[in-house]
Amino acid sequence: MLRRALRAASASPRLRELIMAAPQTRAIVDSYVAGETAEDAVRVARALRGAGLLVTLDYLGEDTKDPDQAAAVTDEYVQLLGKLGAEGLTHGGAAEVSVKPTAVGLFLGTGIAAGNIARICAAAEQAGTTVTLDAEEHEAIEPTLRIAAELRADHRHLGHVVQACLRRSEADCRALAAGGLRVRLCKGAYSEPESVAFTARREVDLSYVRCLRVLMNGPGYPMVATHDPRLIEVTGSLGVLTARAAGSFEYQMLYGIRPAEQRRLANTGAQVRVYVPYGGDWYAYLVRRLAERPRNLAFFLRSLGSKS
Ligand code: FDA
Repeated sequence: MLRRALRAASASPRLRELIMAAPQTRAIVDSYVAGETAEDAVRVARALRGAGLLVTLDYLGEDTKDPDQAAAVTDEYVQLLGKLGAEGLTHGGAAEVSVKPTAVGLFLGTGIAAGNIARICAAAEQAGTTVTLDAEEHEAIEPTLRIAAELRADHRHLGHVVQACLRRSEADCRALAAGGLRVRLCKGAYSEPESVAFTARREVDLSYVRCLRVLMNGPGYPMVATHDPRLIEVTGSLGVLTARAAGSFEYQMLYGIRPAEQRRLANTGAQVRVYVPYGGDWYAYLVRRLAERPRNLAFFLRSLGSKS
């Protein structure tokens, strides 16, 4: 219940204003977000690379309502990729970018979003790296799949995300695994109706394992995005069972969440990529992270209450 209410709150403009204006929010934001600027993002990417971790960078923002804003988000990614490339961080795909289709205009028309994503893909290729399209609300899934299928003719390393919470996802994994693509599997961070999604945690976890089996047995490149210790263990076992080389799949975790586990896995020789968000528009991202962990929410509410 709490999780669902919080996830719904991520779309509330009034709550957004209140929380973004509270000075006490900053310390919590800093634990999940690299900073406001591309320079902050590059600095954090450099440090993570130094620790032997791979990186994917996300310029925060979603559901862009205006074509100029969608173009500005695209420009930001192009410039970021230039900066990462100039520092040698993109070599071999070590640092790549994650893009939310709605941030580059998905709901303004698929033509606008496709053009912007193509521009980001071209900049990524020039820098020697890749792009992954994040998965958003279920209404965005079909148009995102269509755009990705279209763009892969020219940008074959374009990665896709599947959310295990959606009832359609096992079938999506079969289709995407058959294509041998880069596919990130996550549980799903959005509040979705029963008609399209599993809402009980156990059902989501079981769906995750079914999807994981499909991806690990397929010819593609699975990107296993979770902090869940049981799922990390299942992935390791499936890696052995399917005789996958360590370089043929990767673990992914969010910046600031289970950093010791990120380093532990990397020290075993596994590939571990950290998803690093940056930018001023951190509200929806923060609320989704708080919804995942009620303990963090209690801490957050206490810190808001302490000075107000
Ligand atoms: P779960 O939430 O069950 O957490 C398992 C354990 O991880 C917890 O018990 C706790 O120890 C730790 N943990 C989890 N969240 C924490 C937190 N906020 N603070 C502290 N500890 C925490 N979603 C989406 O809809 N579209 C997308 O494109 C992506 N992309 C994406 C990329 C990457 C790299 C990751 C890791 C995740 C995403 N997600 C996502 C988010 C994902 O769907 C999901 O909401 C979160 O990863 C939390 O789910 P877990 O699998 O970690 O399990």
